[in-house]
Amino acid sequence: MEKVFQQILYGGDYNPNQWPKEIWTEDMHFFRDAHINSVTINVFSWAKIQPAEDTYNFDELDEIIEMLSRENYNIVLATSTAAVPAWMVKKYPEVMRTDYEGRHHKFGQRHNACPNSLVYQKFARRMAEKLAERYGSNKHVVCWHVNNEYGGECFCENCEKAFRVWLKQKYKTLEALNQAWNLEFWGHTIYDWDEIVLPNALSEELGPNKTAFAGISIDYRRFNSDSILENFKMERDAIRRFDANTPITTNLMGTYKNLDYFKWAKEMDIVSWDNYPAYNTPWSLVAMSHDLMRGLKGRPFMLMEQTPSQQNWQPYNSLKKPGQMRAQSYQTLAHGADTIQFFQLRRSVGGCEKFHGAVIEHVGTKNTRVFREVAQLGKELAALGDQFLGAENPAQVGIIFDWDNYWALEYTSGPSQDLKYVDQIHQYYSYFYKRNIPVDIIPVDADFSRYKAVVAPVLYMVKDGMQEALETYVKNGGTLVTGFMSGLVDQSDNIHLGGYPGPLRKMAGIWVEEIDALAPEQTNTLKFTDGTTSTCNLLCDIIHLEGATSLADYTSNFYADSPAVTKHEFGRGNAFYVGTQLPEEALAKVLDQVVNAAHVSPVIDEATELEVTCRTIGQRRYYFIINLTDRTLPLPKEFEGKTDLLSGNLLSAAEHLSPYDVLLVREE
Ligand code: GLA
Ligand code: ZN
Repeated sequence: MEKVFQQILYGGDYNPNQWPKEIWTEDMHFFRDAHINSVTINVFSWAKIQPAEDTYNFDELDEIIEMLSRENYNIVLATSTAAVPAWMVKKYPEVMRTDYEGRHHKFGQRHNACPNSLVYQKFARRMAEKLAERYGSNKHVVCWHVNNEYGGECFCENCEKAFRVWLKQKYKTLEALNQAWNLEFWGHTIYDWDEIVLPNALSEELGPNKTAFAGISIDYRRFNSDSILENFKMERDAIRRFDANTPITTNLMGTYKNLDYFKWAKEMDIVSWDNYPAYNTPWSLVAMSHDLMRGLKGRPFMLMEQTPSQQNWQPYNSLKKPGQMRAQSYQTLAHGADTIQFFQLRRSVGGCEKFHGAVIEHVGTKNTRVFREVAQLGKELAALGDQFLGAENPAQVGIIFDWDNYWALEYTSGPSQDLKYVDQIHQYYSYFYKRNIPVDIIPVDADFSRYKAVVAPVLYMVKDGMQEALETYVKNGGTLVTGFMSGLVDQSDNIHLGGYPGPLRKMAGIWVEEIDALAPEQTNTLKFTDGTTSTCNLLCDIIHLEGATSLADYTSNFYADSPAVTKHEFGRGNAFYVGTQLPEEALAKVLDQVVNAAHVSPVIDEATELEVTCRTIGQRRYYFIINLTDRTLPLPKEFEGKTDLLSGNLLSAAEHLSPYDVLLVREE
């Protein structure tokens, strides 16, 4: 794929505006020594560059940009619109949000503007325009960073009015709306568009994820994501009027729930995201988030932020251990990143992020572990040059991720409050991850024919067109895996009548008559056809075979002897259905069969606990071999006699990788 940048951008968020000028000069030396080539500036400087409604002052930003240009840095230029200035709130209180409880907010915090405030829109657009006009032709500006971590939600009156407009466009008539939301239930029928109110704690919701009308709440989620996306598009278009070519992004947040990132990515030139795992986040979940971010556009992405050492906002902000930041950075590159950027380059003096890690710590010297590690990685990345920028991550397995399903599944009232969308997807992802089988995370409207297997856990909402798309895929020889809480509702969260799993019933060759929920302390048992047994939990579909064969039957409860896991030959392909939540080993038994049926192969044949990932450019392959365990592990035979690009060492049979060790092997 065409590369977006000329080198691996290495650097991060830099706030010289918070520091006296002597420090800027010092920073330049530090960055040089750390092989930093990129700085992200102006993220939260709105109040500085627009101190009053009609006053703009770019003097300091000019100086910063001149200095960085002189020193030849790649500049990622932010538009500063993620935290509104105090003067704006004082004069125009409507720019702030109204929260879930209906409280209109005063000045404070950030990521706080009402997306439907015309006043906010006007000022944000004007700012983006002014910045683009002033700096858009500077060749050192290599990327625009619009706003920052868009998110949240607003329940103000402007949003309520905008919601009605959005609904009118979607449903055209009140009849269609009443039907879509099934408002005859509890007699909530709407007779005038003005009767529609936003779903929050003052109306249909009883707390996050608890709603009387999922149809309304899901539409609000879609509307809110669209409203905020309009803010992004508005700034993007403002920039484009003055700068025709520089890529424009905004930093996303992995599996963040509120925004439909597949829809967002279509509007972005390149996806960028901020990776902040906690001390106990499994590496498989980090890998999955990277794959999701790559999947949004099916292209390499930017790592816009990670901490070099520590965070401040988690409950427990453990240090990254020696080598961990490096290993994590290579994992990021391995899964498709073309940049490694930190938050932040210099640790701030005050405010809630003064204990957030940075390349330059409060001591202000280079003699820190963190600085040495950043410099070491910088040196390695500089030596690698641009050779794998734009490289692809080929995958034979696609796992479906869908924000409509994310929202809908977690809004369901029943059968279990423990259904968590990301966790369900991750259970499947981690099977493939542990076997070094590359996965693409794909949208519901992906081209399934590119994959040997498509995995669709909790495909609760099956929207128009999906039944046909999945059936065609399987008929033509594809292998589909789905399971409990799938095929149940349409795009408005109304049930597909005629027996579960609705539109998937024919393809899966089963009918699910009832769905049992098990409390955390309860389990059922089941037995596979090979005689092995397992427990199962969370939900148990009571299944009747309609052409499928059973791979495992329940052995407990009143539905003992009925199927729990099934397989159905459909056309030239197979549909697997997993009707209950299986522990890891039992799920692996099923997915082993899926992998066999679909002839899916791992990146290397040898089983290993190392993470081995492959990026390719044409015939050239880059293998990232990373030890993310806490034990020393042997090098897979496959790589014996090859050279490690990072150290230049020839890899012998005796080679072992210590925890956080990384090797990079290129094969032509
Ligand atoms: C987010 C923000 C940054 C900073 C970091 C701290 O990612 O984008 O401005 O607050 O968190 O981890
Ligand atoms: Zn609002």
